[in-house]
Amino acid sequence: MDRTPSRVSGGAPPGEFAPSAAAVKEGFRRTFGGKPVVFRAPGRVNLIGEHTDYNEGFVMPVALPLATWAAIGLRPDPKVHVYSENFGEGREFSLTGIEAQPTGHWSDYVRGVAAVLQREGHALHGANLYVAGDVPLAAGLSSSASLEVACAFGFLSLAGAELDRRKIAKACQMAEHEYVGTQCGIMDQAVACFGREGHALLLDCRSVQHELLPLPPDVKLVICNSQVRRELASGEYNQRRAQCEAGVLSLRAHLPGISALRDVPLEELERHRSALTEVVYRRCRHVCSENQRVRDAARCLQSGDLSGFGRLMGESHRSLRDDYEVSCRELDLLVEIARGTDGVSGARMTGGGFGGCTVNLVRASAVPGFEQTMRREYERATGRIVDIYVCSAAEGAGPAE
Ligand code: GLA
Repeated sequence: MDRTPSRVSGGAPPGEFAPSAAAVKEGFRRTFGGKPVVFRAPGRVNLIGEHTDYNEGFVMPVALPLATWAAIGLRPDPKVHVYSENFGEGREFSLTGIEAQPTGHWSDYVRGVAAVLQREGHALHGANLYVAGDVPLAAGLSSSASLEVACAFGFLSLAGAELDRRKIAKACQMAEHEYVGTQCGIMDQAVACFGREGHALLLDCRSVQHELLPLPPDVKLVICNSQVRRELASGEYNQRRAQCEAGVLSLRAHLPGISALRDVPLEELERHRSALTEVVYRRCRHVCSENQRVRDAARCLQSGDLSGFGRLMGESHRSLRDDYEVSCRELDLLVEIARGTDGVSGARMTGGGFGGCTVNLVRASAVPGFEQTMRREYERATGRIVDIYVCSAAEGAGPAE
């Protein structure tokens, strides 16, 4: 799919499809006829706490104004016909006997969500579904979770079911595990469900409980897309997760009470370092230190210490680069350029890694200068054009008019 991202969130170049509730309603009418109901679910950017969610740790994501919209209406048969504006194609599947077999097609996300909701006892109706979004794909901003959550809201509303957001997030995560094949954590789906305008979420991925942290209004979240796509990331991602689990197994011989890296303070890891291979030790060191950084970062936000927050973002980036080894040259470069630029209090890679985006905290008045510098220096060094989205924290999923 070629989803041309807009430079600044919320706008699309003239003449291009700009997703919105009205646009997907109109797309639905053209494709299927009739009047749908519409739901919107956001993409996300993670400020700090990377690769900690599947270790039952802490993360601090923000819901974005970039989102997926899903327009849905009843069908008379037990089938789902789904059309994606972004891919320019449709698929259909029957709600009876959905196979848990990833096919590599974008509709796996939609099939997966329908299958898991049914398994959990929801009697879903056949549906026509029209989806469109402006979250750039394979950029580490959770276009997949936003698609999953928007569809889940749609299916459940047709079924007249209660919307428990925690359950929706978990169902969407399961759909991704079983029908897409990525063993992702809960962060992306949770922030799509719980995001709040003007706030970051401090999310405990063990209990899936969150606290809302107000963000300073004069700071923009500026996302720089390296344009290095994360295509091969899924295998590497699952491998990192397996390495963390191997670490827990070995550490358990010495620390019998632990069930995840969340339970291991950095000092304990150091004490039992010899129980681990060098690679597994470094993976664990990233996770244990990152969990601590998230908690420290929350305190910085609460006390208005933006430069302290920025320092922690820098440490997070280095740990992801050196210990977890999920960065790449282009992301390192974007962080490097940003660090020396006026008005920037923090910069790091964000999301799963292996390409994708960096997130930068930039004083609002310094944003134009920041954009200029990033474009110029990144192109000079790589020959690539950086895509930039200037965002503020937006609202989580819900009905859209
Ligand atoms: C991807 C996954 C998340 C999380 C991040 C890394 O976005 O979907 O669950 O693990 O990578 O922090």
